[in-house]
Amino acid sequence: MKLFLDTANFKEISEINAWGVLDGVTTNPTLLANEADGKKDYKQMLKEICAEVEGAVSAEVVSTETESMLSEARDLAQIAENIYVKFPCIPAGLAATKAARAEGIRVNMTLVFSPAQTLLAAKAGANFISPFLGRIDDVASGGMDILAQCIEVVKNYDFPSEVLASSLRHPMHVVEAARLESDIATMPFDVFTKLVKHPLTDIGLKRFIDDWNNAREALGA
Ligand code: E4P
Repeated sequence: MKLFLDTANFKEISEINAWGVLDGVTTNPTLLANEADGKKDYKQMLKEICAEVEGAVSAEVVSTETESMLSEARDLAQIAENIYVKFPCIPAGLAATKAARAEGIRVNMTLVFSPAQTLLAAKAGANFISPFLGRIDDVASGGMDILAQCIEVVKNYDFPSEVLASSLRHPMHVVEAARLESDIATMPFDVFTKLVKHPLTDIGLKRFIDDWNNAREALGA
């Protein structure tokens, strides 16, 4: 499963990228707005992220009509080769996906909440399809079950689209997505850092180092 970071914060991206396991980044208008300080515009921010990360970087349009979505998509695609344009899963977004794919622009269909939307996104040719699990859980429904259904729909017909488990809120969301064979999972920085943590690792490491240091002289180290 590819691991993406869901942030527009450059420091977070470079910190996780240094681990050597980061496959891409997802941003959205909210995440870019969170980083706005009046010094860099959103295109500069995206350009820097695209240069830092080798894999896909998603950037979202804010228009809601097909033609204006497409014009934004063309603009975003100019930023770097690894840009994937996010279109919301609405009729205009499906039409924009079809047209953008015909122009060679790569698409991440976002704000997906059902297997029915997944089927349409796959038929329109989206490269990535992003079901938002956490937001489904937020309305007292089963996000993980919806993810399983979305994956099933894509696999049943061998659509080339990849399912991108999104809106993940804790490490178990990531583990469950991997068990369901989701192609990709995107998560915030704090969830990513929690994936590596285990108290027994810390305790074990301390003991190894202490034992080594106590016997250093006898070991000739
Ligand atoms: C994915 O591409 C979205 O940016 C993201 O996962 C949304 O997560 P949220 O529901 O925590 O805002």
